[in-house]
Amino acid sequence: MNDLVWARTQLAARLPDHSLPQGLYTDQRAFDFDLDAIYGSSWLMAGLECELPEAGNYLALKVGKWPVLLVRGKDGEVRAFHNSCRHRGSILCQDGHGSAPKLVCPYHRWTYDLDGSLFAAGRMGEGFDKTEHGLSPIALRRVAGALFICLSDSQPEFDSFGDSFNRYAAPLNFSDLKLAATDLLVEQANWKLVMENARECYHCPTGHPELGQSFPVHMVRHFDTIRNPEAETFAAQMDAHGLPHAAAEGSWWQLARIALNPGSTSISMDGRPVCAKPLTTLNGGNVGSLRWAIDPHMFAHATADHVFTFSCMPVGPRETHVFSRWYVHKNATEGVDYDPFALKELWLKTNAQDKELAENNHCGVLSPGYRPGPYSLEAEALAVRFADWYCDRASAYVADHG
Ligand code: FES
Ligand code: FE
Repeated sequence: MNDLVWARTQLAARLPDHSLPQGLYTDQRAFDFDLDAIYGSSWLMAGLECELPEAGNYLALKVGKWPVLLVRGKDGEVRAFHNSCRHRGSILCQDGHGSAPKLVCPYHRWTYDLDGSLFAAGRMGEGFDKTEHGLSPIALRRVAGALFICLSDSQPEFDSFGDSFNRYAAPLNFSDLKLAATDLLVEQANWKLVMENARECYHCPTGHPELGQSFPVHMVRHFDTIRNPEAETFAAQMDAHGLPHAAAEGSWWQLARIALNPGSTSISMDGRPVCAKPLTTLNGGNVGSLRWAIDPHMFAHATADHVFTFSCMPVGPRETHVFSRWYVHKNATEGVDYDPFALKELWLKTNAQDKELAENNHCGVLSPGYRPGPYSLEAEALAVRFADWYCDRASAYVADHG
């Protein structure tokens, strides 16, 4: 049975509002299929533009098995390329942030300008045409200081997300941020279990006592809140300051400005700001959290004092990399305005708790006793939404390629 036929069979076995058939979480064929059908054909958030402040700054990352490079050119534009030399394919830059006046392949020193064009290639003889050997571009969109890429030549519709994201995020001036801290967590769990866990707070009251200090972990359905008497007051305050807050969504994205728990203005251990240089002073610095989430791989929270992003990248059927990044105002000074440990503490704890939950989940899903189970439509609405989105995208891919 080829992989597409196998995937179609698995998808056909999905019960409505139930977790996925076992093989979709555990099988190598599902992993290979997901890279093509999901990660290779979706919009992904690569990072924020402030991570590449100067010409020559770059960010190299892997989308599944595919190496990708984002570079700021001399003209100020950020471009995305496949991180694969047009000579014999070596990667140009190792994963992570860096800076270079030109991109030099470490293998035979082919050298590219920051716009991806081939600048020099030694000993290639007469008749070699440099203009035909520039780096292969990747679709990139820039909105409100955030960078989105899609590896496919036929990308999902973007503008309805882009327009909404710009409206919600622009007041926080993401162009005034800087990257303050990063973390990589390796989880022995399938990426879909990591993401389902990241999309629901059914487990939060018991699983994340620290997060529950500031974050309304009793949220129901999409972004409704209960046991948070300040939610209506918060909505009126946001309206008064012109800050959009209502939940908005498209097939692959969600946005909302969420009221935090009473007395909290940040998502932190004690609900107080973890950076003294605010991104906004609107409403006395109480602007709740702007949460945005993109399927298949990420969510983020922007409070008045900092921005946190979570990005999930599949490495194998049972291995997932979770990249966390924390951003603060670009004029904030480490050790004066913020303590990196305090900045990271809550999400490091929360992510470590989630790692254990996702790894336990994967372990149990491997059991011959595993049967897809029903989600709570109240407490796991976004996990159902994720699983439904996955099945819809996967089915559409099978239909297109079968
Ligand atoms: Fe890059 Fe040879 S593979 S120069
Ligand atoms: Fe969690």
